[in-house]
Amino acid sequence: MKVKGKHYRTVWMEGTSVFMIDQTLLPFEFEIFEAKTCKESCLAIKTMITRGAGAIGAAAGFAMAQAFMEAPANGFEKYVLDAKKEIESTRPTARNLFFAVDRVFRAGQRSVEKALQEARVLADENIEEARMIGEFGNELIEDGFMIETHCNAGWLGFVDWGSALAPVYYAKNKGKSVFVYVDETRPRSQGARLTAWELKNENIEHVIIPDNAGAFYMSQGKVDMMITGADRIAANGDVANKIGTLEKAIVAKEYGVPFYVAAPLSTFDRECMTGDDIEIEQRDEKEVLYQSGPDEKEILRNILVCNPGSAALNPAFDVTPAKYITGIITEEGIIKPDKEAINKFFY
Ligand code: MRU
Repeated sequence: MKVKGKHYRTVWMEGTSVFMIDQTLLPFEFEIFEAKTCKESCLAIKTMITRGAGAIGAAAGFAMAQAFMEAPANGFEKYVLDAKKEIESTRPTARNLFFAVDRVFRAGQRSVEKALQEARVLADENIEEARMIGEFGNELIEDGFMIETHCNAGWLGFVDWGSALAPVYYAKNKGKSVFVYVDETRPRSQGARLTAWELKNENIEHVIIPDNAGAFYMSQGKVDMMITGADRIAANGDVANKIGTLEKAIVAKEYGVPFYVAAPLSTFDRECMTGDDIEIEQRDEKEVLYQSGPDEKEILRNILVCNPGSAALNPAFDVTPAKYITGIITEEGIIKPDKEAINKFFY
């Protein structure tokens, strides 16, 4: 996707460095972050300089390749194994992180060059899968549709295109008119900050709504469909995604709004039998208690927006049971969220 006329991937590698669009500064500043070592890439994933299941996966694959490149001849095996564990501890819910690390680690058993090559292949696959999700998802979108989305599952959350937003971009490219309700997605406001920025950048009509306004608009018949991304999908079709997704899915069912999840097959974890087996990342309470934005001098500031001294809970994801999901849009087609239908896509 293009920013000010220049094409960018969300995350890429040059030499031994991993480059990422710094998502902690958006939408106020557009800067590229350079992670020179595997450790720096881990920190960038943990602190959400790069974020979103697909982008996390690509960055984790590159981080694993960095570890192979920087490992000393003496103690090589231990170095790459420790690095693998460190990368895996950064964001535990995102399945794509483990998928990518595993593939690059296995390729690295053959040679360092193979590890790097595999990380690059993964990033390229990530783009193609997202594009295909766009193609399949576009078939569900009618001209004039009003679509609600949660968090950011756009091209910032992948290497390009995105998952939930790929069908929207595809529909727009096909000449359809689409309108997007963007859930603000507290506490980190990925909707209000990132999705809104992406949609504005792509000239797609949209409006930011408070997290608690979804039921209001759905009850008024103003939402034609909802599409979200996914961080991990269990064998039975239960979906872990950004906190708040579950509430939207329940409300969508109540008001008869089709609720779609968009994700590549690499997000499925068939070793998790149900959503109960998915580890939910708990993040720092400061993300709830503080918000950041530019002051009158355009300097980014963190300010307390809650009662001083009160504690906060900050689960990063929740699990939406399969019964609330109309379908899962993948690069291979749209899957009914149940074990049998999912199994067919893996054999
Ligand atoms: O905590 P984040 O911002 O990494 O969470 C992102 C989401 O929950 C997305 O909806 C998900 O990764 C789907 S695809 C980008």
